[in-house]
Amino acid sequence: MSYPYQIKNLEGYHEAYQKSIQDPNTFWGEVAEHFTWHKKWDKVSDWNFKDPSIQWFVGGKLNITENCLDRHLATMGDKPAIIWEPNDPAEEHHILTYKQLHLKVCQFAQVLYNNGVKKGDRVCIYMGMIPELAIAVLACARIGAIHSVIFGGFSAQSIADRLDDAKANFIITCDGAFRGSKDIPLKSVIDDALIGNKNIQRVIVCTRTRTAVSMLQGRDVWWEDEIKNVEAQGIQFVPAEVMDAEDPLFILYTSGSTGKPKGVVHTVAGYMVYTNYTFVNTFNYNPDDLFFCTADIGWITGHSYIVYAPLCAGGTSMMFEGIPTFPDAGRFWDIIDKFKVNILYTAPTAIRSLMGFGLGPVKGHDLSSLKVLGTVGEPINEEAWNWYNEQIGKNKCPIVDTWFQTETGGIMISNMAGVTPGKAGWATYPMPGIELILVDDQGVEITTQDGEGMYRGNLCIKQAWPAAIRTTYGDHERCRTNYFATYNNLYFTGDGAFRNEAGQFRITGRVDDVLNVSGHRIGTAEVENAINMHAGVVESAVVGYPHDIKGQGIYAYVIYTGSHAQDSHGSAEMIRKDILQTVTRIIGPIAKPDKIQFVAGLPKTRSGKIMRRILRKVAEGELNSLGDTSTLLDPAVVDEIVKGVV
Ligand code: PRX
Repeated sequence: MSYPYQIKNLEGYHEAYQKSIQDPNTFWGEVAEHFTWHKKWDKVSDWNFKDPSIQWFVGGKLNITENCLDRHLATMGDKPAIIWEPNDPAEEHHILTYKQLHLKVCQFAQVLYNNGVKKGDRVCIYMGMIPELAIAVLACARIGAIHSVIFGGFSAQSIADRLDDAKANFIITCDGAFRGSKDIPLKSVIDDALIGNKNIQRVIVCTRTRTAVSMLQGRDVWWEDEIKNVEAQGIQFVPAEVMDAEDPLFILYTSGSTGKPKGVVHTVAGYMVYTNYTFVNTFNYNPDDLFFCTADIGWITGHSYIVYAPLCAGGTSMMFEGIPTFPDAGRFWDIIDKFKVNILYTAPTAIRSLMGFGLGPVKGHDLSSLKVLGTVGEPINEEAWNWYNEQIGKNKCPIVDTWFQTETGGIMISNMAGVTPGKAGWATYPMPGIELILVDDQGVEITTQDGEGMYRGNLCIKQAWPAAIRTTYGDHERCRTNYFATYNNLYFTGDGAFRNEAGQFRITGRVDDVLNVSGHRIGTAEVENAINMHAGVVESAVVGYPHDIKGQGIYAYVIYTGSHAQDSHGSAEMIRKDILQTVTRIIGPIAKPDKIQFVAGLPKTRSGKIMRRILRKVAEGELNSLGDTSTLLDPAVVDEIVKGVV
């Protein structure tokens, strides 16, 4: 069995691509026919990049959970929808069939209603990777509440900022989360985030770790008690709220080049159609395949390719609570062997880290069920690609290198397994519907090749696609200036790329002040703000540098004049630790600098702008190619920085 819109071969890809660019409305209209609608759309798309205003399937009415669940019940109610593997392999895995998942989503949707959640309310979800996280997401979608999942690694301060920005009125969390050998006290972090918060009406707490938690009278309720109430009500079915195609489905916060994360808004219909289309075609998904995406649902990859797309396709999604190296570095291979996973979708950073353990942890595991491998989140280096190909795919599994962003909702550039050829380190071809263009800093299209025969430039997109960002929550102007104002009539990705004569793309990384650390986006300004909050810090500048495992590491230059510098606690090492603690408090452990260099001054132009180019070169160890420093206010600071490099 396959899907009517599944591309079969290279010719089919070229045909679909041509059609999608020449006549996008007919193309996407035909794909959308294969979904369940309460009312079909009046117009397939209506958009301009100037405002920007982007609408797809205008006038259509639907609910995404009917597409993910209800429509499969009659034909595959007993098929596993989610297979969940816990952190500790000694604990039993769970299987949720479509029928069971549907029931749980309906019951939790009723819990939400019972607690006063309404269509349009913003519900923050801060949970570990347990099935209840997927259930919470889907229950929100069922009643039309807008979910905003926050990754479990963010601090109370980060959560508080997001709650405030989203004007969230409900929270769903857990007592704690297991992550390798750690037990993360999620509810306690939420309690800290809620100090002073006036908007949150209810916190629903799911039991996972049995960590002691404080439950505030009148505000906090237990998930399990609430489900019991719903069972006592005898409720097994909750009708799906009929949503407009352009009603918001979720907000997901992501870092940009300014200090404050942006709430990227996706809407129901376009996101559903596009993520499903890209899922089926990129992975050449067959409905009987077991699909294992190792991302966390706190990131866009998890939203799109653990929850919505696989379920919408009537597939089986493997969900894993733990980390790749616990209890040992054979955990992924163990899961693949145990459940006979067919498609593995992971991040280069995970591959590099597992590669470091040698072949011991791979040996003894039967990986022969694997058919397709995927990577996402950052450029993959050739060594990691080859290892993945040879040791995991045994040279028989196509590797799809999928490029996309929180803002794009779904995969934008990738080879398609068994359909279009892959190339180590290259994302290769645009998906149907995606018209790419490379421009110079003035926005002029790159039409000449460099010495290596490549077209190099800033990666932009010419036409709207169904899962494009609609707005940044609460601040549409921010969306416009961030993505649509850099170049006239183009969406700017923030990435640099090059294209070869064959039309294949290779992503080189961010060209703005955003880092990609272990596949996670972190704005340098955000990290600087956090460092600057530490008492005694006068100023800081943060840049990325190549890191063997993380892809990019965080290098911070800090001007510190606090009194601690002189007294007995004042060793540089202690101050470094204190700064790391501050960053952990303000953002979360993922933003901790890998290196901190104390400096007396930062290289600045006469207008006061920090010359990051120089700082980057120093962090990269390219001390002999710092370039022109004559325009600096004080060129001597550079010599001092070079001497103190860590
Ligand atoms: O720089 C690109 C990089 O990750 C950024 C998007 O980050 P985020 O919104 O967190 O989403 C990550 C998961 C989709 C991009 O701007 N990136 C993502 N995928 C790739 C990539 N860089 C190179 N190759 C990829 N396959």
